[in-house]
Amino acid sequence: MGRTQVGIVGAGPAGLMLAHLLHLRGISSVVLEARSRDYVEQRVRAGVLEQGSVDLLVESGVGDRLQREGLRHEGIELRFAGESHRVAMTELTGRAITVYGQQEVVKDLIAARLAAGQPIVFEVDDVAVHGLDTEQPSITFTHEGRDETLTCDFVAGCDGFHGVTRGAVPAGVLSTYDRVYPFAWLGVLATAPPAVDELIYANHERGFALYSMRSAQVSRLYLQVAPDEDIDDWSDDRIWAELRARLETVEGWSLNEGPVIEKGITPMRSFVVEPMQWERLYLAGDAVHIVPPTGAKGMNLALADVRLLGDAFAQWYAGGGGGLLEAYSSTALRRVWRAQHFSWWMTSMLHRFGDSDPYQARLQLAQLRNVTTSTAYARALAENYVGPVEV
Ligand code: APR
Ligand code: PHB
Repeated sequence: MGRTQVGIVGAGPAGLMLAHLLHLRGISSVVLEARSRDYVEQRVRAGVLEQGSVDLLVESGVGDRLQREGLRHEGIELRFAGESHRVAMTELTGRAITVYGQQEVVKDLIAARLAAGQPIVFEVDDVAVHGLDTEQPSITFTHEGRDETLTCDFVAGCDGFHGVTRGAVPAGVLSTYDRVYPFAWLGVLATAPPAVDELIYANHERGFALYSMRSAQVSRLYLQVAPDEDIDDWSDDRIWAELRARLETVEGWSLNEGPVIEKGITPMRSFVVEPMQWERLYLAGDAVHIVPPTGAKGMNLALADVRLLGDAFAQWYAGGGGGLLEAYSSTALRRVWRAQHFSWWMTSMLHRFGDSDPYQARLQLAQLRNVTTSTAYARALAENYVGPVEV
C-alpha cells in the first residue's frame, strides 16, 4: 500500500471530512473503511446540521446538493401537557439549522474524494495500528485477501465508537467518562409527507417522541423504547398508534401515515474519552465521544473535531510547528463537553425515566415551562441547538 502523510481509519463524516480538508491543503491521506461504499452511503443516521457545519461544507466546496436539498429550519417545537410551544431559534440567535441526512453528507464527501482521484479503500479487515510513539507509525490491514501495510506520519482514528484505534492507546493513558440511559430510541423512516415543517420534541407520559423529516415525501420519527426492546415487536401499526398517542395531544393536529421504509433501535449513551490524542494518534468523532441524539449534536461534533485537525495538520506541514496539534485535544474538548451537557440536559428534560420518580417528572414540566416562557431560557436552548459560535 505504501505511504501517505495521514492515515485515516473510518469513512464516516469525521474521516471523510478530514480527508477532504487535508486534500484541499495539499496533504496526502488514505482512508480505510471496514464496510462497503454502498453500506456507508445507505446507513440511516441523524440529520441535523448546525449553521457552522453547513458553513464548513459549503466553504470547502461540498455543499452544493446540501444547499439545494437541505431543509433550513428556523425553529423547533416543544410539545408537553397537551400544549405546543415554538422555540424561535433564528429570532433568538440569528442562526438556523439544516435538516440533511448524515448519509447524504457521506455520499457528497465520497463523491468529492473520488472526483479528486484520492484514495479510499472500502471493505478492509483486521485493521491494526503500530508505532504510534515513533515518527513513522503504520497501519496494517487486509484487503481482497492480501496483507497490506500503510506507513504514515500521523494516524487519525475516525472509526466510530466500535473502532479499533482508541484501543491502541496503552492502558492507563485515557480516562473515560460515561452515562448509560435506561431507554433507547426506535427510529423510523417512512414514506409519508411531514405534517409540519419544523421538528417536534414531545415529552409524554408514555415516553418521548420526535417528529422529524428528510424531504417533502419522507418523515423521520423516533420513539423512546426500553433498552432491550425487540424490533420485531414493532409492527407498522403499533409504531403509528404509539406516535399518534404521544404526538396527537394538541387539538386539531394529526400525523400523516405511510409505509415504513426502515426501522432500527439505537441505544442512548453519553461517553467521552480524554485526552483525544496520544503521541501520533489523533482521535475524532464517535471514536472518542458519543452523545444521546436528543440534542442532534453527534455529526456536528465529528465535523468540528476534524475542522480543528485540518488546521493543525496544515500548520505542521507548512512548517509552522506543532502548536495546534498539541492544543487539539484541549480545544476540541471544550466544545465536546458543552455538547455533552446540552445533550444530557435535553435528554433529561424530555424522556420518561420510569414510574419510580414522580418528582423528576414534575421537574421536567417546570423546566419545559421555563424554556417556553422565559426568553433567557429559550435563547440558551436555541444557542446550543444551532451550535455555538465560539466555544
Ligand atoms: N476499520 C476501518 N473502519 C472502521 C473500523 C475499523 N476497525 N471500525 C469502524 N469503522 C468505520 C465504520 O464502519 C464507520 O463507517 O468507521 C466509520 C465511523 O463512522 P461513524 O460511526 O459515522 O463516526 P464519525 O465519522 O465519528 O461520525 C459521527 O456518526 O454515529 C453517528 O451520531 C453519530 O452523527 C454522529 C456521527
Ligand atoms: C433526525 O432527523 O434524524 C434527528 C433530528 C433531531 C434529533 C435527532 C435526530 O435530535
